[in-house]
Amino acid sequence: MARISASVYTSHVPAIGAAMDLGKEHEPYWQKVFSGYEFSRRWMTQHRPDVVFLVYNDHANAFSLELIPTFAIGTAAEFAIADEGWGPRPVPGVKGHAELAAHIAQSVIQDDFDLAIANRMDVDHGLTVPLGLMCGKLDATRDAWPFAVIPFAVNVVQYPVPSGRRCYALGQAIRRAVERWDGPLNVQIWGTGGMSHQLQGPRAGLINAEWDNRFLDRLIAEPAKLAEMPHIEYVREAGSEGIELVMWLIARGAMADGAGGSPPRVAHRFYHVPASNTAVGHLILED
Ligand code: DHB
Ligand code: FE
Repeated sequence: MARISASVYTSHVPAIGAAMDLGKEHEPYWQKVFSGYEFSRRWMTQHRPDVVFLVYNDHANAFSLELIPTFAIGTAAEFAIADEGWGPRPVPGVKGHAELAAHIAQSVIQDDFDLAIANRMDVDHGLTVPLGLMCGKLDATRDAWPFAVIPFAVNVVQYPVPSGRRCYALGQAIRRAVERWDGPLNVQIWGTGGMSHQLQGPRAGLINAEWDNRFLDRLIAEPAKLAEMPHIEYVREAGSEGIELVMWLIARGAMADGAGGSPPRVAHRFYHVPASNTAVGHLILED
């Protein structure tokens, strides 16, 4: 059977992607951010997955306000890099895993989660920035990402957004789906977005390091309890875009302890303020 070997959590700030694209990784401001991913890039070469199930949110690039799927699973063989207004980022396109994605859709929908099926979905910074953080800078014309990616888009842009509880339970269903796959695949699940940030309005620039670190503590130690936290607390404490953190609960729900097994091992933890207007958080949990 296929198995989920690890989960990875990281912010997906677009300015981090711009810093990579413009060769600014070694500037002192950005070096502090990228220093938190040196371990992770080594770890990725030693823990090479076949497939990454990558939970992120589309920022009105693949979808607009005309159509807002709560959960959309990318079932295509490949996904183009979205043009977010400055042309597509100069990173390799994303190869999917159409068969595993279709299998997960089948299993998760039969498990009572209503997913939208996306046979075409351009992927934005929410997905490409985590890939670059974890794999390093690649050449769009020569290189390829070293694993297949199943993009999984969650609506956290337009209310109503899914609850933490729903996200955690969905992660549990994704784990069951992966374990029902008949074939030896090493799958990682990544949750992206956050941490605290608010990009507009009178509270623009809000960062709450104490709350963020408590979120990391609880995500590690008591995820099912954390999943009960209502939206209003994310927004009040972590800013209007801090709500992206509910997506981390999907990845966390897919770990073994969500199915009655042992808690994961914390392989890496990092927190840094600021990157652009955002607090950067990052965790690697091994099953
Ligand atoms: C910004 C955008 C994001 O999607 C995010 O998760 C963090 C920061 C930004 O525009 O700065
Ligand atoms: Fe975002």
